[in-house]
Amino acid sequence: MPPPDVWLFGYGSLVWRPAFDHAERHPAFIDGWTRRFWQGSTDHRGVPEAPGRVVTLVAEPGARCWGVAYRIAPESADEVFAGLDHRERGGYARIELPVHFVEPGPAGPVPSGRVAGARMYLATADNPNYLGEAPLPAIAAQIARCRGPSGANLEYLVRLAEALRDLGAADDHVFALERLARELASPL
Ligand code: BEZ
Repeated sequence: MPPPDVWLFGYGSLVWRPAFDHAERHPAFIDGWTRRFWQGSTDHRGVPEAPGRVVTLVAEPGARCWGVAYRIAPESADEVFAGLDHRERGGYARIELPVHFVEPGPAGPVPSGRVAGARMYLATADNPNYLGEAPLPAIAAQIARCRGPSGANLEYLVRLAEALRDLGAADDHVFALERLARELASPL
């Protein structure tokens, strides 16, 4: 029997910058989870004295989180996940959930009916960098002013929002933050 497919679901920077070998890339979603800028970043989009904010998943009945499913060849899976585990060591754990694949529909992507188990990264409230909920203007202000070794926090937000628009994906939290943070970063 050939080794089983390994799938990775990206809902943050992996949507727009999959810096790992992958065999396939498909728009997809997970149900029962929502994307939130509630995780602090002290090593990528902020620094320990001024943490940026990056995304995590928060369980929410009825919610849907859009992203991208990547198929990783079985022979590269160990190396890919060792690299990602190291990069995301600032508070993320790996979980596995069902991902739903989509196909184009007349008014945007629609479920194709294909489902697979996929690995993904989750920062829970008990990790030391967790920041949690805050008013949207405060989160936007933090994103607008922070930067870290991987670049500006605003770039992370804007590139994620652009990639989600390209997928035809809805995300009120991300799009509202993008609007607020852009206004703060370049006042008229
Ligand atoms: C992502 O892009 O899916 C992601 C990667 C690492 C941590 C959290 C999310």
